[in-house]
Amino acid sequence: MSANKQTQLKQTAARQALDLVKNDMLLGLGTGSTTAFFVQYLGEALQDGRLQGIRGVPTSENTARHARELGIPLATLDEVDFLHLAVDGADEVNPELNLIKGLGKALLREKLVEVHARQLWIIVDESKLVSRLGEHAPLPVEIVPFAHEATIRWLNSLPGCRAELWLREDGKPWITDNSHYLALCHFDEGIDDPEALGRTLNEWPGVMEHGLFLGMASGVIVAAETGIRVMRKNA
Ligand code: A5P
Repeated sequence: MSANKQTQLKQTAARQALDLVKNDMLLGLGTGSTTAFFVQYLGEALQDGRLQGIRGVPTSENTARHARELGIPLATLDEVDFLHLAVDGADEVNPELNLIKGLGKALLREKLVEVHARQLWIIVDESKLVSRLGEHAPLPVEIVPFAHEATIRWLNSLPGCRAELWLREDGKPWITDNSHYLALCHFDEGIDDPEALGRTLNEWPGVMEHGLFLGMASGVIVAAETGIRVMRKNA
């Protein structure tokens, strides 16, 4: 698929997600290039009066900046009891609507915000669909900088996992909005048992959060060259 086509599909999915938004909703605003289109369309709808009374809780400093530029009123997670809806992208989506997220480097805040949402809708182009998680995308894992080499060694000891510190082009580690590092875990054969892996990662002290979003998505809007497909949880 050409980059242009992929951008068009991201825009189509983002436009479709705007239909889920109703006046006065508290919204979780995801991170990444697909969600950036959603944030843009949301801002436009607020500016021209198609929507009103919305407040957004951003999942990254980038999204917060973008939303502020568009005049979208923001709230923090501490100020709200729940979110009506969160909209976000994903790096991989399997048929059970389980996800790999975090290649936009915002997985910890995304997960923290999105567990508070009554509904989490994912917007993707069709290239994100996989039969097995880990098939195409590495799994990002947010780790504590202290003893990060020891944490990476531990990640490498997990079955089927090839882990590396995620470095910027200048060779320095990426630093998240939470002042942590990120590891990328490659699973050449895909991830055998995402639930078990998620539990193992959650229990390790150097790991702050991981990009497996299991059982969280209410639905996925997939924009394909042949049209839009909507996948729903338990459908
Ligand atoms: C951000 O940390 C990620 O979880 C993104 O949602 C994911 O990487 C999808 O990004 P794109 O929409 O840019 O592909």
